Amino acid sequence: MFKGEKVTLRPVRREDLPLLNAFNNDVEVELASGGDPPMPQPLPMLEAEYEQQWAKGGRDNASFVIEADGKCIGGCALFDMDHTAHTAQLGIIIGDKEYWGRGYGRDAVRTLVHYAFRYRNFRRVWLRVHANNERGMRAYRAAGFVEEGRLRQHVYSDGSYDDMVYMGVLREEWEVHTP
Ligand SMILES: CC(C)(COP(=O)(O)OP(=O)(O)OC[C@H]1O[C@@H](n2cnc3c(N)ncnc32)[C@H](O)[C@@H]1OP(=O)(O)O)[C@@H](O)C(=O)NCCC(=O)NCCS
Repeated sequence: MFKGEKVTLRPVRREDLPLLNAFNNDVEVELASGGDPPMPQPLPMLEAEYEQQWAKGGRDNASFVIEADGKCIGGCALFDMDHTAHTAQLGIIIGDKEYWGRGYGRDAVRTLVHYAFRYRNFRRVWLRVHANNERGMRAYRAAGFVEEGRLRQHVYSDGSYDDMVYMGVLREEWEVHTP
């Protein structure tokens, strides 16, 4: 649907759910992703969320599967949309660890940010990331995000406390950043 240099962002399909569920149950992926501590996620729970989301209808969906080499390697989304201030939060998980550190995340983030500004007319895209997630922060910087603040020792993850970093990119920064 939306092509980057290495990835395609496309809608989530029902047949993606078992793989996405496996990603959500991979402790290493979950810890890197931040958010809630790792918890078992039964497949029917994800299926129910999927059904509920589509049953609800609405026109605000911005959840994508990240596809590379013809397969699903993860997912990314815009959420927490504010249609008054024109802001949205970005989230990304590359669940297939074979694809970590090979430029796929950077490309997916850039493609999603392009989608947010160009097609959805947002003004600002922002995100939260744990300070020890160097790979994530570098991928975000490569798409034009800058650090805007941090909550010190705000998160507990895998035995220690870490800062929560807020990053954001404004439309005009992205316009300068985009070749
Ligand atoms: C975070 C994530 C999206 C990054 O995508 P990726 O494809 O692995 O990363 P990329 O290959 O695009 O690399 C991004 C940057 O990290 C650097 N990097 C790669 N491996 C690294 C490592 N092990 N440690 C530190 N930096 C690393 C790259 O050099 C690159 O930086 P540069 O552009 O300055 O050269 C992906 O690893 C992921 O989904 N991880 C698990 C879930 C997660 O962390 N989600 C984000 C939560 S906020």
